[in-house]
Amino acid sequence: MQSLISDIDSIDEIEVFGRVKTVQGLLIEVIGPVRELRVGGRVSIETQSGSHLACEIIGFRDGLALCLPFGPVEGVRLGCKAVFAGHDGAVYPHNGWLGRVINAEGQPIDGGAPLMRGTSPYTLRNIPLPAHERARVGGPIDLGVRCLNTFATCCDGQRMGIFAGSGVGKSVLMSMLARNTDVDVSVIGLIGERGREVQEFISEQLGEEGMKKAIVIVATSDESALMRRQAAYLTMTLAEYFRDQGKRVLCMMDSLTRFAMAQREIGLAIGEPPTAKGYPPTVFTELPRLLERAGPGLRNSGSVTGLFTVLVEGDDHNEPIADAVRGILDGHIVMERAIAERGRYPAINVLRSVSRTMPGCVPEDFRPTLTKARELMSVYADMEELIRLGAYRKGSDPKVDRAIALSPALEAFLGQRSDERTNIADGYNLLATILETMGGEA
Ligand SMILES: Nc1ncnc2c1ncn2[C@@H]1O[C@H](COP(=O)(O)OP(=O)(O)O)[C@@H](O)[C@H]1O
Ligand SMILES: [Mg+2]
Repeated sequence: MQSLISDIDSIDEIEVFGRVKTVQGLLIEVIGPVRELRVGGRVSIETQSGSHLACEIIGFRDGLALCLPFGPVEGVRLGCKAVFAGHDGAVYPHNGWLGRVINAEGQPIDGGAPLMRGTSPYTLRNIPLPAHERARVGGPIDLGVRCLNTFATCCDGQRMGIFAGSGVGKSVLMSMLARNTDVDVSVIGLIGERGREVQEFISEQLGEEGMKKAIVIVATSDESALMRRQAAYLTMTLAEYFRDQGKRVLCMMDSLTRFAMAQREIGLAIGEPPTAKGYPPTVFTELPRLLERAGPGLRNSGSVTGLFTVLVEGDDHNEPIADAVRGILDGHIVMERAIAERGRYPAINVLRSVSRTMPGCVPEDFRPTLTKARELMSVYADMEELIRLGAYRKGSDPKVDRAIALSPALEAFLGQRSDERTNIADGYNLLATILETMGGEA
């Protein structure tokens, strides 16, 4: 009833409309009562065939409203009627959305029943909680993946990036995390993925078990830039909705790079200047605005732990988006093609991965083991080339000898089948056993 009343209230009494003045590329300029409008508002353009094209107002220039469409612009003509809609960019989430696959508009795309409508509105472009009112990052969260649990421990309310080139195993890792992480709800945004991959991810990798406590938000690569960007906003909004119910939420996005590319398209369409790699300045203001929304909630409320993938093009870990994201998040997980090519999955380079909250959450008695394991791995990594070339002679350096002896066991520890799960304690024990039984002190 309440939602019906608010629905009725939100119906405009008068119709405000303008007319299409120009169409250039994706940009549609509308002339009309622009003083009535605001950035972020919606416009519905009536095309010649009688269909409606939803657009968002993204700016104003010379007395015209600049609009970008949510769908293809075919059929839009000069003079088409553009009705300004009262859409305030909000959704009404409901617990019944769990287990569903939806699009950026909050419509189901899994062929199931229509979604239930919740009672309170949640804005898509919410502002982050004020930093001083937030709880601190909590205790370790069990990701179920042992190389991360031990070497890059993630805490409740932490935000981490997963950096990798294409085909290195980001999506498979994401699905492992979605299935195995010890949280109440996972909200997964698939942004700008290929349609085929989305199907694969949902039906094969995530499976029924993973879907039970998850919501998947999808905007495929062929959808408009606005839809792809909005899918990221909606993902975050739904994570906030569950957080406000006191739940521990895992918010995942694959990938942030595609979100940045959508924002690049939007920025360039309205005439922003391109800067690094063609990315306009708004990309670098939108990224922190989005990512800061994840994190701990207010004290005594739920939390949003964030895991976001970043596609590093040409395996260049210093490209602008990777650089910007690394600066915003509390840690990064680096996946490498060379490791995947060796056949070790997940192809995580633990020496290059960092969790900034980790120093505070590793148990005191495990620290020496961890330090020793890291040292052995870095000794091996330094000598790897020489060892492979046969240029290292056994016995020259006891430390290197021990690193060589332990390397197969450590590699086996770091690798994990995608259907396997190891909790934090088991991971610690396993690593300790490897170090104790093989090599011990030098
Ligand atoms: N844990 C794993 N175990 C076995 N194979 C894996 C694993 N992770 C990734 N792969 C292989 O790598 C391929 C690409 O992985 P995917 O996650 O789709 O990459 P990305 O999302 O980074 O493009 C998969 O099709 C699979 O063959
Ligand atoms: Mg992928």
